[in-house]
This record gives sequence, structure tokens and C-alpha cells, in this order.
Amino acid sequence: MNNIISWTAEDEAIIATNTDATECKRCAVELGYWKDDYIVYFAKHVDRKAPEINRGYYARVKAMEMFIHQFLERCGTKCQIINLGCGFDTLYWKLKDTTQAVGNFIELDFPSVVAKKSHIIKRNKQLLEKISNEDRATPGEPHRREPAAQAARLLAAGFESARAWDMDTVWRALPEEDRARVEALEMLDERELLQQLNLHYALSVATRGELFADLDLNA
Ligand SMILES: C[S@@+](CC[C@H](N)C(=O)[O-])C[C@H]1O[C@@H](n2cnc3c(N)ncnc32)[C@H](O)[C@@H]1O
Repeated sequence: MNNIISWTAEDEAIIATNTDATECKRCAVELGYWKDDYIVYFAKHVDRKAPEINRGYYARVKAMEMFIHQFLERCGTKCQIINLGCGFDTLYWKLKDTTQAVGNFIELDFPSVVAKKSHIIKRNKQLLEKISNEDRATPGEPHRREPAAQAARLLAAGFESARAWDMDTVWRALPEEDRARVEALEMLDERELLQQLNLHYALSVATRGELFADLDLNA
């Protein structure tokens, strides 16, 4: 039987987005946008990125933290998080450092990405010591649609409630003091460019059951 898995050029391009995301995050962390003690293991050296990029990643990381916090507040730590297209995301270790470590944490990505991540984890004691679950990998299907269409897709998949926001809306929903702190970190000439970038990405939240029905931006 032929077990060789081959990737298309498109797959390769998708996989490469992880390198880019990791480098962008490391750059933003180094500039003080947010704290992440683990990103250094996954991107060794990075060139400085444009302020628009740094700010975009800040909004993305902050918004994810916001919803994960709300989720864990409601269900406690006896829950499961599945990180689809996890790349080299360090969320697992960041949660381990809080009182919000979750019962079961599963990460999915292309096998080559997961293999690289496992290799990096095995070589770094600080990462390895905190691992209590095995990483797994499985291919999925990419979706890139308008926020309303994203929400509709999630409803069609069986969720009871689904909402999606473009990242410009997410940025504006972040606490004013956070935005002011981040805006003071770097000058931004191209506000329109940042807005265009932010409109290209979306954050979707889909839930089942009353417990999570009120999850919202800045709730
Ligand atoms: C832009 S990166 C983001 C990585 C990480 N979530 C983060 O925020 O840093 C997108 C990730 O999704 C993964 N991905 C995209 N489509 C996928 C698919 N169909 N199956 C598995 N992984 C996928 C890519 O390999 C890549 O690691």
C-alpha cells in the first residue's frame, strides 16, 4: 500500500502561513504588545514587522484570550479545547501558567507542522515539562468567507448560536486603555492599510446550550 502523502502547492502555501504567524507574534511580543514566554522557542530570529501587522496580531491574540476566558469562566477547567490549525500557537503553555489550565487540549494541523512542533517541544525542557497530553494531527478544510457567511456555516453545522466579527470590529471592541497602550508602542502611518488587513480576517464564536449563549466581545 502506498502511504506517501503528497501536498499540493496550495497546501505548502497554507503551511507556510504558520511560519509567518509565528514570526509576527514573536516580533510583537518583543515590542511589548503582549507577554508570551514560549514564542521564542518557535521563531528564533525575526525582522521587525510593520506596526499594522503587530497591531493586527495583538487584536487577534487578545480577542482569542477574551473568549477563552469567558468559556472557562462558564465551564471550569473540566472542558476540552480543540485548537484547529494550531500552527506553533503557544496557547497551551500560556493556559498552563494560569489557573485556567484545561482538562483536555488537542491541537490539529498538517502532519508536517505537528511534526516540527513536536520536535521543538522535545528539544526544550520548559515546553516539555508542562505537557500532559499528546499532540495529534489531522487535515481539515480551509474556509475563507465574510463574517455573516461564517456564522451561517456554523449554524448549518449544528451550533445553536453563531456570531462572527471582522477583526476591525474586534479591535474597536477591545478595552480603550488596552488600545491606547498598544497605539503608543509604535507610530502608525497607514491606518487604512491596517483597516483593510483587519477586514480580511474574522473571529467566529459558535455555541450550544444556554451556559455559553451570552459569550460576546468584551462581555
Ligand atoms: C496562519 S497559521 C495560524 C497558526 C496559529 N493558529 C496561530 O494563530 O498562530 C494557520 C495554520 O492553520 C493550518 N491549516 C490551515 N488549513 C489547514 C488544514 N486544512 N488542515 C490542517 N491545518 C491547516 C496551517 O498549517 C497553519 O499552521
